[in-house]
Amino acid sequence: MAITVEAAKPQIGGIVHVDKAHLLDDDTIETVRRELETRGVLVFPGIDVSDELQLAFTDKLGDRVNFTRQVPGSDATSPDVYKITLDSKFNSEPDYVLGTFFWHVDGVTIDQPLPKATVLSARKLSASGGATEFANLYAAWEKLPEEEKREIENLRVIHSVEAAVRPVHGHPSEERRARYKAMAAVMEQPLVWTHADGRKSLLLGTHADGVVGMPGPHGRALLTRLQQWAAQPDFVYTHKWKLGDLVIWNNQGVMHRVVPYTDEGRVMHRTTIAGTERPGVPASEENIARIFQIA
Ligand code: OGA
Ligand code: MN
Repeated sequence: MAITVEAAKPQIGGIVHVDKAHLLDDDTIETVRRELETRGVLVFPGIDVSDELQLAFTDKLGDRVNFTRQVPGSDATSPDVYKITLDSKFNSEPDYVLGTFFWHVDGVTIDQPLPKATVLSARKLSASGGATEFANLYAAWEKLPEEEKREIENLRVIHSVEAAVRPVHGHPSEERRARYKAMAAVMEQPLVWTHADGRKSLLLGTHADGVVGMPGPHGRALLTRLQQWAAQPDFVYTHKWKLGDLVIWNNQGVMHRVVPYTDEGRVMHRTTIAGTERPGVPASEENIARIFQIA
């Protein structure tokens, strides 16, 4: 067996032991696919991939997507590898990177199948901060009391970029809001996502801005409480990066955030694997308007 996986914590996380030469083996890819479903996030300590190998690994797992191609940090020479960094040389507008300080799921506000998985490799570390936390949204659903499950099972949630970056900017300017509107959708997603295989997970994050049919504060209070529930320590794996580590997470069943850092030297290379399931639809103006009413 060229690959072994040990649990990082009982409810989330796996540490993968595989030689770089075997990263693209069919056996490795099959194991990664399977373990991603149950462990949510997999770490390949110090595997030290090149962009070429990271892209080849991404391609073996599915179709690559780069929904961030339009935002600063994309690189013309390898357009499917997005650099996550606060370095102003690469990134004239760090909103999206600062947005990663808050719990989120990648690509929720884009009208496309929800990205299946994200691959991140550490190219330069920050002097402090910069650990990435992952919370298992399958476990968060499964462990809810039955009564609460019944109450929330059929709720729908409005997700927007504006909400995702609200903690970054406080109150964004009109011009900035117009830009977000042009680049992403306001999406209506199920709160409880029943996946094609029948499993269920919560779909949460800072981009979740209200519950359909509820006045704003009621919806946001429920979402805040559920997010706190989902982020309880037993459901969370924290990855303290070492140079050359590669991490892949099941973006459809995990939310993530990074411990704040200021170091412009930190550089991570991200690639994304497309999903096939499309749980949400663009939100109607009427449903959006309701979450801005307070009673
Ligand atoms: C991302 C992300 C966290 C980090 O790449 O989507 O959220 O640790 N990154 O940089
Ligand atoms: Mn992210």
